[in-house]
Amino acid sequence: MDGGNHSIVSEFVFLGLTQSWEIQLLLLVFSSVLYAASMTGNTIIVFFVTTDPHLHSPMYFLLANLSFVDLGACSTTSPKMIYDLFRKHKVISFGGCIAQIFFIHVVGGVEMVLLTAMAFDRYVAICKPLHYLTIMSPQMCILFLAAAWAFGIIHSLFQLTFIVNLPFCGPNVLDSFYCDLPRLLRLACMDTYRLQFMVTVNSGFLCVGSLIILLISYIFILFTVWKHSSGGSFKALSTLSAHITVVFFFFGPTMFIYTWPHPSSQMDKFLALSDAVLSPFLNPVIYTFRNKEMKAAMKRSFRLLVNFRKIS
Ligand SMILES: *[C@@H]1O[C@H](CO)[C@@H](O)[C@H](O)[C@H]1NC(C)=O
Repeated sequence: MDGGNHSIVSEFVFLGLTQSWEIQLLLLVFSSVLYAASMTGNTIIVFFVTTDPHLHSPMYFLLANLSFVDLGACSTTSPKMIYDLFRKHKVISFGGCIAQIFFIHVVGGVEMVLLTAMAFDRYVAICKPLHYLTIMSPQMCILFLAAAWAFGIIHSLFQLTFIVNLPFCGPNVLDSFYCDLPRLLRLACMDTYRLQFMVTVNSGFLCVGSLIILLISYIFILFTVWKHSSGGSFKALSTLSAHITVVFFFFGPTMFIYTWPHPSSQMDKFLALSDAVLSPFLNPVIYTFRNKEMKAAMKRSFRLLVNFRKIS
């Protein structure tokens, strides 16, 4: 990254989450366990969905893609945060900081579109079951995926255009554990009020906008389920409640971070922690361990493994 002639800051210093030794220890254990669990859980989902033909359906493909993105989501900020926890001097290079912002926004953008696609998928499955296979065709899934990645990358590049030309002339202390745009803008040696406003408009309203689309599709689904209340409705409701929980944990903190005008910084940091380690962990837990087909797939491959070992 060419910070060159308009910038003398080559690295940023994080203040971290807290000074308290006990809380740091607690965070170390909590974050390491959640990080390991997220990586394992999401890898398992990607593995089962891609290898087990019983799970080759649009819903599972979208789920596996969400897990794939979650592998990236939990790796952008938490390994660095865990590594930094007990270090006195927590630094990140200018390029590292830009890279973190880039990946956070790519991953966030992709997840937003994928969650919307997953809600659309459930909407079609429940409200238009006869047309499900024609509407959610493989081409449609590819289209959703392409749209998700294109959206994530374009959104993220757009965010970066706000900062690459900013003058960073000295202040380099971020009261955070990762590089986030709102805080970074405040370090620039010029009036960034308008830029801060742009970031809020861009990330905040995108977030609120897709949340509204999601809520509308959930209301449609609930309404349909309620109208044709039959045997299938319980299963539909349980799937829906899983989706809504994931959406709540993903959008809640993000929305707060980007749209709350005067964030109290402690609150902000712990909400960001929830986005960094908790939400990537919840997807596998919520979708997998409550899902009969997923559990059946695991049992099948476990049995296969046992048989394989008996033969060899
Ligand atoms: C993502 O979805 C596509 C198409 O629906 C599927 O072919 C692919 O295997 C999925 N990716 C992962 C990592 O599961």
